[in-house]
Amino acid sequence: MDKKVHELLNQQINKELYSAYLYLDFSNYFKEQGLDGFANWYMIQAQEERDHAMLFYTYLQNENEKVTLEAIAKPDKTFACHMDVLKAGLEHEKYVTSLINEIYGAAYDVRDFRTMQFLDWFVKEQGEEETNANDLITKMELFGSDPRSLYLLNQELSARIYSAPSLVL
Ligand code: FEO
Repeated sequence: MDKKVHELLNQQINKELYSAYLYLDFSNYFKEQGLDGFANWYMIQAQEERDHAMLFYTYLQNENEKVTLEAIAKPDKTFACHMDVLKAGLEHEKYVTSLINEIYGAAYDVRDFRTMQFLDWFVKEQGEEETNANDLITKMELFGSDPRSLYLLNQELSARIYSAPSLVL
């Protein structure tokens, strides 16, 4: 495997684990605010990010490439209101999309078609993640300022259940 592609794939394990850590922090924020549904939504988001990390980990191992685990940074966001959290989520997903695109670009440059095929799932997944984050912001904009509507939105988010990723390696 090309050195740069390998480096970026290995880094992505860390980025995905950081994402899990970040969403765990979001979940913790909402738990403290008494919004269990939002806390549940981000808890599941955290689980999905861990799955993403494991997909990169497994892909490298399957390719007989070395995996090096680095330190995971501390979640560094502070929030003045619920909406800040949701917006930080969208901003983070856009950043992750840019990382996936960067790896894709590096794989493309060296005609690493197998890595490109592996990353195709993530390209699609990032589209969905950004849509979900956007939808949440829209709902909060519409209903967040009314306590009864916020209660119902919180209930809706409490119904989210975890499902394993559709990509199996
Ligand atoms: Fe693993 Fe939310 O991207």
